[in-house]
Amino acid sequence: MEWRVPLADLDYGEAEQKAALAVLERRWLTMGAVTQELEERFAAMVGARHALAVTNATVALHLACLALGIGAGDEVIAPALTFVASTNAALYTGAEVRFAEICGAHDLNISPEAIEACITPATRAIMAVHYGGYPCRMREIREIAARHSLFVIEDAAHAPGASLDGRGLGTWGEVGCFSFFSNKNLSTGEGGMLVTDRDDIAEKVRKLRSHGMTSLTWDRHQGHAFSYDVVELGYNYRIDEIRSALGLVQLEKLMANNERRREITEQYRSMLAGMGVEMPFIESEGRPAYHIFPILLPAEADRGRFMDEMRGRGVQTSIHYPPIHLFSYYRERYPGVSLPRTEGIARREVTLPLYPGMKDEDTAIVVGAVDKSLGAAWKAEPRKPGHRPG
Ligand SMILES: Cc1ncc(COP(=O)(O)O)c(C=O)c1O
Repeated sequence: MEWRVPLADLDYGEAEQKAALAVLERRWLTMGAVTQELEERFAAMVGARHALAVTNATVALHLACLALGIGAGDEVIAPALTFVASTNAALYTGAEVRFAEICGAHDLNISPEAIEACITPATRAIMAVHYGGYPCRMREIREIAARHSLFVIEDAAHAPGASLDGRGLGTWGEVGCFSFFSNKNLSTGEGGMLVTDRDDIAEKVRKLRSHGMTSLTWDRHQGHAFSYDVVELGYNYRIDEIRSALGLVQLEKLMANNERRREITEQYRSMLAGMGVEMPFIESEGRPAYHIFPILLPAEADRGRFMDEMRGRGVQTSIHYPPIHLFSYYRERYPGVSLPRTEGIARREVTLPLYPGMKDEDTAIVVGAVDKSLGAAWKAEPRKPGHRPG
């Protein structure tokens, strides 16, 4: 379908093409010098001692859990209003998940009070997911973690370039994980990054992402090593040089693109004000990455109808997220989990288009479509376009 305004769009141009071609011309495709450069620059950007590039954020989260020694018999506390990868990563290790409620309609991130209520003797870690690139309440989460001797893993898939109290998101916990999936703020198609300040975690992740081997093909190519040992059960979670080259170009654009995302978010907020939709994160602290723009429809609106109407007007929308504990696999694994706040809010959530290349006219098209679609999706009495409740 040809959208008038798609949900997301890449900021890709000649620089990315040149960077990919340069890798092909150098004839070294697997992880090597370009990846090292991306890791160094990414570490400097977020303010972490180590950054390790990997295949995607899902494996970064898996490696984070493994490097922290999380496994069978352990529990990880996580929100349900996130992508399923956030909690799958813990399950891969044999650990179990305990779902905590989000803060509320104003803040869709995990609630520190709910985290505290989920802690059991088996709890080992808190998975703090920065929804939309908006910071979780990290001061409180760290304080809880310190008091109960828990690890904090940050799912910063949405949050490259975001910070709280001047400290990069991803560096508040023991480990931070970023996604370079094609709709993300920094995109390489597939790709991800794990950051940490701890040398022991970095060392462990370095081995685990490459079969538990003590040297890389790249080291051997450079003559730094002739052989290798396998010292633990590892994986092939490596990135490649083409993606790293794309990542370097995208990293250069990241902060300016995050700023453009902020401008569009502000436009949305002022244009949608008074239309009857709730807008989470208006009071957000720190510097978000503005990855997506979620709205909450009024209870009187039929969401399916609303999204159909938006599609009819050429505007792509999405849902972030169907709560994880309601998926069949998770329902069977964790029957009876009930998160009324998360479920109530998730039912009303719709994500509007947001990407740096959006023009002011595009924002206006989306807002006009929201107004008309809300009218059409009203369950009770008809709502007229331009209607301002209250
Ligand atoms: C919050 C969150 N966590 C983790 C992931 C997984 O990222 P990846 O696709 O890079 O594995 C995503 C991807 O959409 C995500 O949105």
